[in-house]
Amino acid sequence: MQGPVFGSCADRAQASLVVGGMDRGSCACRHRFGQNSPCHRPHFGAAGADARLTPDSPLIHGASRIGVRGLGVELELPLDAVLEGDCVAALRRLPPASVHAIFADPPYNLQLKGSLHRPDHSLVDAVDDAWDQFSDFAAYDAFTREWLSECRRVLRRDGTIWVMGAYHNVFRLGVALQDLGFWVLNDVIWRKANPMPNFRGRRFTNAHETLIWAARGPESKHRFNYQQMKALNDDVQMRSDWFIPLCTGHERLRDAAGQKLHPTQKPEALLHRVILACTAPGEVILDPFLGSGTTAAVARRLGRRFIGIERDPGYAQAARARVAAVEPLSETAALVAPTRREQPRIPFGTLVENGTIPPGSTLTDKQRRWRATVGADGSIGCGRAQGSIHAVGAAVQEAPSCNGWVFWHVEQKGGALRLLDLFRTEALAAR
Ligand SMILES: C[S@@+](CC[C@H](N)C(=O)[O-])C[C@H]1O[C@@H](n2cnc3c(N)ncnc32)[C@H](O)[C@@H]1O
Repeated sequence: MQGPVFGSCADRAQASLVVGGMDRGSCACRHRFGQNSPCHRPHFGAAGADARLTPDSPLIHGASRIGVRGLGVELELPLDAVLEGDCVAALRRLPPASVHAIFADPPYNLQLKGSLHRPDHSLVDAVDDAWDQFSDFAAYDAFTREWLSECRRVLRRDGTIWVMGAYHNVFRLGVALQDLGFWVLNDVIWRKANPMPNFRGRRFTNAHETLIWAARGPESKHRFNYQQMKALNDDVQMRSDWFIPLCTGHERLRDAAGQKLHPTQKPEALLHRVILACTAPGEVILDPFLGSGTTAAVARRLGRRFIGIERDPGYAQAARARVAAVEPLSETAALVAPTRREQPRIPFGTLVENGTIPPGSTLTDKQRRWRATVGADGSIGCGRAQGSIHAVGAAVQEAPSCNGWVFWHVEQKGGALRLLDLFRTEALAAR
């Protein structure tokens, strides 16, 4: 295993963070990161890179890194790598504004008291690992704020973060996120199809966990792959409650003795939805608490790049092996429909100009409650309302907004109505 080389900031080559032993596969792209350096190209290179962060690795100090950016020198990211070490230290070595998305499944601070048994007296395999122990809430909060601050620094301006937790910790995570300037977009409920029963019968069955989805800040123009989420949900808008089973069966990693390899391995279906919702192929998703490597494995399958950080050498090694075994989807399968924002735009005026909907045509809504006349400049008029197809659609319905493309129709010969959006689709296809 060869470790990463952390050079000084004196020159670009040395300032680059190089991951030894990394197989970039067919990807020739060198990711250089600044706030405005998107890379949306799909990469399907091999993964499972091996990068060990040791306490004596030379560091690129935070202040120098900022200075390096200021001088226009670009840093590189250790892509498709499982970095071994404490996530705060590892994050500090990454360049600012460099990753598109973050998924974090941090320690829960479960504060378990005593052991738990099933009615048949068998012992419940609870999460009592050292990594989940904190002396008190203050220590947990301090840790949370430390890693979240570093995550915010490495997240691109328009990037988003997912932080998941259970009732033990999720409220503390939420406060920290908001205090640090993140902008909460949703709290998604992962409703477990097969939760563990409440054996003592003194509380409700704990059947869900919460994923807080937040943008870097209120000004972020975050990516939400709305159409893809809808397609994933049988063409119905995706809701914020997700019904997904726990990770069991062949997906659950086991050690040589057949025991669960990791106590909190998350289902791949959960990460599939997360990654598909907020990234494009080729974009970079970072997981500071990689555990068994679920985020990395799904990212690789979906043609995304990943950076995983894990403190436990055994888990890190298992994650590398898991990722190396993943077969990425073909580019065609991984590439999905572009978002509406990414689609080429066509103004209504263009359809008027080119005679598809000539000036003087009449537009009407589906129920034929309102009739509007098309002007030569692409505006429409309906009674006292005058303006764009969207503004007039909103005005007549007394609604705050309206998508005129799917509100207005054109009356065809014979009286049938045709949705305005169909004319636009045809015009786009003809381009
Ligand atoms: C809740 S588990 C994540 C499980 C993961 N999502 C999966 O599907 O396997 C949290 C992981 O964070 C690791 N961890 C805890 N503290 C850490 C730290 N300071 N830096 C890096 N990793 C840490 C633990 O070893 C554990 O594997």
